[in-house]
Amino acid sequence: MKYIGMDSKDAIISRFSHHVSSGKADFFKSVGIDFVFGRRQGPFVWDAVTSKRLINCHCNGGVFNLGHAHPDVIGALRESLNELDIGNHHLISEQRGLLAEKLCELMPGDITYTVFGVGGGEAIDLAIKLARGYTGRTKVVSASGGYHGHTGFALATGDEQYFKPFGPRPAGFVQVPFDDRESLEKEIDETTAAVIFETIPATYGMPIPDKDFYPFARKLCSHHGALLIIDEVQTGIGRTGRLWGIEHFNVVPDIMVIGKGLSGGIYPMSATCFRPDLESFFHDNPFIHVSTFGGAEVGCPVALKVLEISSGPAFLEHVCELAGLFADGFEELKHKHPEILVRHRQLGLMMGLEMVNEQCGPVMSKVCYDNGILSIYANNNPRVSQLLPPLIIERDTAFEIIDRVDRSLDETKRFLGLA
Ligand SMILES: Cc1ncc(COP(=O)(O)O)c(C=O)c1O
Repeated sequence: MKYIGMDSKDAIISRFSHHVSSGKADFFKSVGIDFVFGRRQGPFVWDAVTSKRLINCHCNGGVFNLGHAHPDVIGALRESLNELDIGNHHLISEQRGLLAEKLCELMPGDITYTVFGVGGGEAIDLAIKLARGYTGRTKVVSASGGYHGHTGFALATGDEQYFKPFGPRPAGFVQVPFDDRESLEKEIDETTAAVIFETIPATYGMPIPDKDFYPFARKLCSHHGALLIIDEVQTGIGRTGRLWGIEHFNVVPDIMVIGKGLSGGIYPMSATCFRPDLESFFHDNPFIHVSTFGGAEVGCPVALKVLEISSGPAFLEHVCELAGLFADGFEELKHKHPEILVRHRQLGLMMGLEMVNEQCGPVMSKVCYDNGILSIYANNNPRVSQLLPPLIIERDTAFEIIDRVDRSLDETKRFLGLA
């Protein structure tokens, strides 16, 4: 059976437009991007019909941390298919137990319990349910510009543009500026169930918080009896050069949410991990949260393999080495392109290029595409181009990315009349 490139480009796009999304088809036509995801291997993706190749520096926000078609991850799925399927989400599961035990071993501090989901938004929803259920409070404080997903409670934590068509922000949800201690201190009170942040807000353009911000937030939460929820959906599983991004700040949250990369790019899996005292809420209400496909058994060995690979010291060292190489490269580009490149924001391979104005991001995305790089701008801060290459790339590919970014900055500069 062949799945890729069976039809002409026009036929594929027309079918997509008529039966999946006419708006997306029109949008991509209007920006001159007719790429159809085809063959994929490691950091590379080829168009399904033409020979165009992209280096994947989008990675769906970390889904492809291990690149495309990692042989060990595929091997884990092939083997698990011999014995497992979805399983039953109500009954006791050997596989979910094993995966949760591994997460307990790898999580910071005393985070020992895990409830599994399918996607990140669902796992965030559960984190907020748990915080409200456990504390009996309703207020949830999040960062303006932050993004935790498009589902119910996750959507309620986000910016207005995402929920406005569907009604007002649900009661109890408030935003504060990110990395602003004073605002957080003013907002948090005895009605606060939880404070939720992405360790580094990706959709907000990867601002790196002050090193004292999370210790301060941790102290405030503990003082007021509020729970600290850390969203590691993008920063987790090695992206920052440590297994968890929050490790850089020496803070143990009450609840940590992971997703994306846990899938290995092939089997959806997300996880809401929390401290043992919070488990009392589920102990009393074991069927209060249900997800039919959450923690599907066939995917558990895949996630276990991802964790095994990503937690290896040599793997994390490789990420740090690449990060150093990109830091040097971008520093040079800053001197070469001062008319457009303001600074690079970076923690490990969580990287954003901050440019001079909001036109830069969208133009840079298109120019990068023309130069063979899949990279998108940060939707909540279009001055920033996100760069999230797979963590497994070789040094040569890193140099190739820097080279192509160099060319793209040059062309963006000229296109916008900044040269
Ligand atoms: C930081 C963060 N949290 C949560 C989510 C939601 O994950 P999902 O799209 O799997 O629901 C995303 C998705 O991009 C994300 O970037």
